[in-house]
Amino acid sequence: MIAAERVTHEIAPGVPVLRDVSFAVGEGEHVVLLGANGSGKTTLLRILAGLVFPTSGCARYDGTVLTRRTLRAGGFERRLRRELGLSFQVPDAMLFNPTVFDEIAFGPRQLEDAPGDLDGRVRRWARTAGVAHLLDRSPFSLSAGEKQRVSLAALLVLEPRVLLLDEPTASLDPRSTGWLVDLLQDLPVTTVVSTHNLSLAPELGERVLVLAEDHTLIHDGPIEPFLADRERLIAANLVHSHRHRHGEEEHRHWHLHDWS
Ligand SMILES: Nc1ncnc2c1ncn2[C@@H]1O[C@H](COP(=O)(O)OP(=O)(O)OP(=O)(O)O)[C@@H](O)[C@H]1O
Ligand SMILES: [Mg+2]
Repeated sequence: MIAAERVTHEIAPGVPVLRDVSFAVGEGEHVVLLGANGSGKTTLLRILAGLVFPTSGCARYDGTVLTRRTLRAGGFERRLRRELGLSFQVPDAMLFNPTVFDEIAFGPRQLEDAPGDLDGRVRRWARTAGVAHLLDRSPFSLSAGEKQRVSLAALLVLEPRVLLLDEPTASLDPRSTGWLVDLLQDLPVTTVVSTHNLSLAPELGERVLVLAEDHTLIHDGPIEPFLADRERLIAANLVHSHRHRHGEEEHRHWHLHDWS
């Protein structure tokens, strides 16, 4: 359904932020994309969404290679935007309408020929996302967590086949994070969710893709063996160490838990 084939992306000649990354995700799979800051998660999701074109290799959607040319041909880009939703790591980058209602209605208005009962759909997805009481508000006046929920509702209202979510829990408190995990688990949609939160990762999918700091894909498979492999966790810079004081003694050791 979506695939990366030998994707290498350089931000300057000889400066790759993704190196020879290949994988395929089938219909209905829930995949977690793990990687430290700067490993290339956001860049990879943007490539899968056809917003960035890799230096070499390619991304595919339903078998079609994503290039500027294929996107222009035969309404493919419109179909891709309707069927594949990408949430940005910083929700502000997605919010630009005068009200939350317009924000959620924006996708169907732009991408659907006959949006049907738009009012009812917007209200239904706003309720699902817990933002029904905010429909008349300006998106800019919302809290970070509320913005995150609105940007999710704006994607869900299109009832996409694929959701690419870039650190969707970053601004959410524990209760909201639990809500999102439940929502994603029940959603009959192909999902790729990026995070660097090891405790959250198993909740977001059964399969994990791990980007190392050298921008290569170092793991693609079940999540449990990866979480048990301390050497590889350290190599991917996904665990932290910090100093502890026990009376006079000070020492440093690795922690698997997350800071948050
Ligand atoms: N348009 C760009 N111009 C220059 N450098 C870029 C650009 N986009 C990404 N980079 C660089 O590419 C690297 C990977 O960035 P990316 O945002 O994909 O990482 P990430 O894994 O999402 O990190 P984080 O966990 O911090 O969100 C970083 O070093 C970043 O500075
Ligand atoms: Mg990122």
